[in-house]
Amino acid sequence: MLIYDYTNLIEENIGKQGISWNLLQERKKLLSVLHEEIKEKQKDGTFSFLDLPIIQPELDKMKKFAADAKGKWENILVLGIGGSSLGARALFQALCHPFYNLLSPTERNGYPRIFFADNVDPELMQSFLDILDLKKTLFLVISKSGTTAETLAQFLLFLEIIEKKGNLKEQIVIITDPEKGPLREISKEGFFTFSIPPKVVGRYSVLTPVGLLPAILVGINIEAVLEGAKIMYERCQKIENPAYLYALTHFLFLEKGKNIHVIFPYTQALMGLAEWWCQLWAESLGKEEKGPTPVRALGVTDQHSQLQLYMEGPYDKVITFFVPKKYRKTISIPHSFKEISAFNYLSGHTFNELIQAEQLGTEAALSKAGRPNAKFVFEKIDAFTIGEIFLCLELATVAFGLLMKVNPLNQPGVELGKRYTKALMGHPEWIAEKPNIESPKCIIAKV
Ligand code: PA5
Repeated sequence: MLIYDYTNLIEENIGKQGISWNLLQERKKLLSVLHEEIKEKQKDGTFSFLDLPIIQPELDKMKKFAADAKGKWENILVLGIGGSSLGARALFQALCHPFYNLLSPTERNGYPRIFFADNVDPELMQSFLDILDLKKTLFLVISKSGTTAETLAQFLLFLEIIEKKGNLKEQIVIITDPEKGPLREISKEGFFTFSIPPKVVGRYSVLTPVGLLPAILVGINIEAVLEGAKIMYERCQKIENPAYLYALTHFLFLEKGKNIHVIFPYTQALMGLAEWWCQLWAESLGKEEKGPTPVRALGVTDQHSQLQLYMEGPYDKVITFFVPKKYRKTISIPHSFKEISAFNYLSGHTFNELIQAEQLGTEAALSKAGRPNAKFVFEKIDAFTIGEIFLCLELATVAFGLLMKVNPLNQPGVELGKRYTKALMGHPEWIAEKPNIESPKCIIAKV
């Protein structure tokens, strides 16, 4: 069971930079009202992402599709961006071998390699053309709106090639809104499609075919992911739960001016999850001139990069470690140079002990320096616990949004940039704005 340990956020434990136990107990009263509000919004469909652990209309279709696809493809290329990519990447990085794509087909149990094209950098695009045998590649085109310029441009690139050299209807799968949008429109031409439930917005869609189809295609047990999410959902029907306490403690710190929230996994496998969380936290909570800034760091790597700042920089951060109790592999540190203590004290231990000591050491040092830090403890990293953390952090995000009194589901701030991009690219609706963007009124300050 996933544990949220917030001992080192409490003033009585770490000193005046913490939040007082009494204040926390007092403010916990907010949670009952919050819970009711969340239930209401779940009922009216606004927070229908909370239903996903149980309501999965396309689960059987995904299972059948994956069974039919097994052994058929050398590669999967996911075309999508933001919420239409980060969740699937988080699942893949957490649950597949760190060098999965370099393993042989036998070592991958016959599952294909998987790549994510979540950018429009021409050099990245070319690199896919360089390394993938496109005739042996399955393309997952993922966009809730069906209008995202990056995804559609990627789609057009590969579509043209597949039209000439491949099999359009077999090689392209569209994942989009069930009714609306240009991708839904063209899917009527006979493309294989999966649907994203209408009220589930991008960054809350990992437990739909957006995250689950890429995952099942590389052999991830998506039913275990859903089971973990379901168990977390059930735990969260009580007021004292990890999602609400994560939200409330971080909200109280935001009120104290600590607006930088760091996620610090002590396993490479959870860096994708940290990236997914950064998008969820930033896009959901950064609006109306307020909101926390999410930051990701990697243990132990960032002990040698970020930690100095966290220990002695401004008191504006709250750090959350992701800690697996057990790692999936155990590696011993061999004996050598017995007479030199710099080597000798390490020998006979394991890398597991070393990374655990580094995490505990960092946690203790931060606490001693009065730096608030908490941790999510995973029994181990597997499909079930990843399901738990997805649901927990999604719920924490909407709870935080409601505490801040902002809408955690929209992202009005990204629209203007999108509109300007469309104007620059000649979209007929926005083209009139092009001259203002190309030569804005300003004092030239260039060196
Ligand atoms: O959370 C969101 O809504 C966004 O981050 C979207 O996921 C992202 O902009 C991609 O949108 P779409 O899925 O419509 O292509």
